[in-house]
Amino acid sequence: MSRETSEAVPDRSAIAIVPATLASFLGEPHPREVTGAGLGVWLIDTARVADHELEIGRSWLDEAERQQASKYVRAELRRAYEIAHAAARLVVGASTDTPPEKVVWGRHACPGCGEPHGRPRAEGTAIEFSLSHTPGQILVAVADVPVGVDVEIHPDDPTALAGVLHPQETAEIEAAARGTLDGGRAAVRFTRAWSRTEAYLKGIGIGLGRDPHLDYLGTDDAPGRTLDGWVLNDVVVPEGYGAALALHN
Ligand SMILES: CC(C)(COP(=O)(O)OP(=O)(O)OC[C@H]1O[C@@H](n2cnc3c(N)ncnc32)[C@H](O)[C@@H]1OP(=O)(O)O)[C@@H](O)C(=O)NCCC(=O)NCCS
Repeated sequence: MSRETSEAVPDRSAIAIVPATLASFLGEPHPREVTGAGLGVWLIDTARVADHELEIGRSWLDEAERQQASKYVRAELRRAYEIAHAAARLVVGASTDTPPEKVVWGRHACPGCGEPHGRPRAEGTAIEFSLSHTPGQILVAVADVPVGVDVEIHPDDPTALAGVLHPQETAEIEAAARGTLDGGRAAVRFTRAWSRTEAYLKGIGIGLGRDPHLDYLGTDDAPGRTLDGWVLNDVVVPEGYGAALALHN
């Protein structure tokens, strides 16, 4: 990938995506088609997943997923991982007519180095999907075209983290913290820029293999933007979180 910087064009007429709620691993998820491109987006509140439901979801995971789950020391993060993977299996399975436990997890080639650690994929299918887990909330999207999602919890100290972002985004967050910029608290602005950046980089498939200083996605409240063949929309999530989705154009 190019090391050049890029700048998204905000779209104030866009609308933030309202995800469907996935509250149960029993039965079929809501049908997809939130917008065009076969897009479906689901939000899961981990506190609302009952233990007996999680037992069902856990039984779908393969050996590699079980091993990965066991590496999480914090029970809350392990649970979020298990719920995210069960949810992804459920919605990918429903979209490809495959039982969740029969979905075969794989990875696309990384666009940076060609190794198989790019976007997740379901082997033998053309469906694209993306998942994100943060304490308390999980976001999963499927589409007919490459897609990336990210959900993030607001940080306690956004100015301490702001330097990981594009310099202009860092400056906006610092100005919001000083009270010299209206249009969103520093934590809200940080989470907007970070979730937009991660959604974009996950959509491309390079993840943080591309320096997040390079792309300006903005900390403003415009609900949509375009960048280099991608359409980005903010996703409506509960207070205290921020989320974004990138869809290949
Ligand atoms: C992708 C990445 C940004 C995710 O960050 P995160 O905020 O910790 O986690 P999220 O919950 O939002 O997303 C995790 C999911 O992203 C997906 N993912 C991982 N790598 C991905 C990639 N390159 N592209 C798209 N999606 C990816 C996986 O499904 C993962 O879920 P899992 O860990 O449960 O299997 C980060 O893990 C990353 O950048 N990894 C690659 C870093 C790198 O240097 N790669 C080498 C390039 S040559």
